[in-house]
Amino acid sequence: MSERSIRHLAIIMDGNGRWARERRMLRIEGHRAGVSAVRSAVEHCRRRGIPHLTLFAFSTENWTRPALEVGSLMALLDSYLEAELDQLVRQRIELRSVGNVDALPATLAKRLSRVENETRGLDGMRLTLALSYGGRDEILRATKQIVRDIRLGLLSAEAVDEEIFERRLDSYGTPPPDLVIRTGGEQRLSNFLLWQCAYSELYFTLVHWPDFDEQDLDLAIAWYEGRNRRFGCVDSTCRVRPAMRSATSG
Ligand code: IPE
Ligand code: IPE
Ligand code: MG
Repeated sequence: MSERSIRHLAIIMDGNGRWARERRMLRIEGHRAGVSAVRSAVEHCRRRGIPHLTLFAFSTENWTRPALEVGSLMALLDSYLEAELDQLVRQRIELRSVGNVDALPATLAKRLSRVENETRGLDGMRLTLALSYGGRDEILRATKQIVRDIRLGLLSAEAVDEEIFERRLDSYGTPPPDLVIRTGGEQRLSNFLLWQCAYSELYFTLVHWPDFDEQDLDLAIAWYEGRNRRFGCVDSTCRVRPAMRSATSG
């Protein structure tokens, strides 16, 4: 794998509501159209040989949206997982999730765990869904685990380093994102993968998520391939801590 190839692509899928409003449709119609864009993004990444894809589907802050929208999104996620299981298995895609699954409705949590179990170990590609996910929440949960382990005498405070901390993050085992794409025109992270994005390249596009197609993805990847990633060094020959750089880590 070359230095420039993407090991992990992460996407903040934004703009569904505005896509719908522009068409005088309900917001949920925008989310529904977004599911088709998910299918084509997964397929295109698989074809391009990108081993890790993370999709930001629902944030810890999205719980504050009107109950009707939240309920429709949960139902949509559930039906996506139900409809997709066979295809994931056929394409050897392992599905994982990051986020506070305890906050999800029981039926969705159960479905998620079933799909995770049935796709565990599949080696074609890993698709991670960020569900009820917030970077701060993930970091806080990891910190609480560290405090608990120190109290139990399983860990010494002095030993805590980045590797030990990362082991407690939901994303452990997936390299940090090389490229983060945000659709919909906003230029912010909105609490997405705060720890993991320390050295990610950030790409923003005005295209709303339901309209984001293979050409848009190819454009983002081509932009990434033109970046010069220095990781704080002055040239490409210096040593970089492996955790910062997915080309050399897990
Ligand atoms: C992204 O689209 C999907 C979720 C956050 C669940 P939005 O629903 O945020 O769409 P806009 O930003 O209002 O257009
Ligand atoms: C970020 O989009 C969350 C997801 C894409 C799931 P939001 O629409 O929630 O973000 P803000 O509110 O514009 O920052
Ligand atoms: Mg939005």
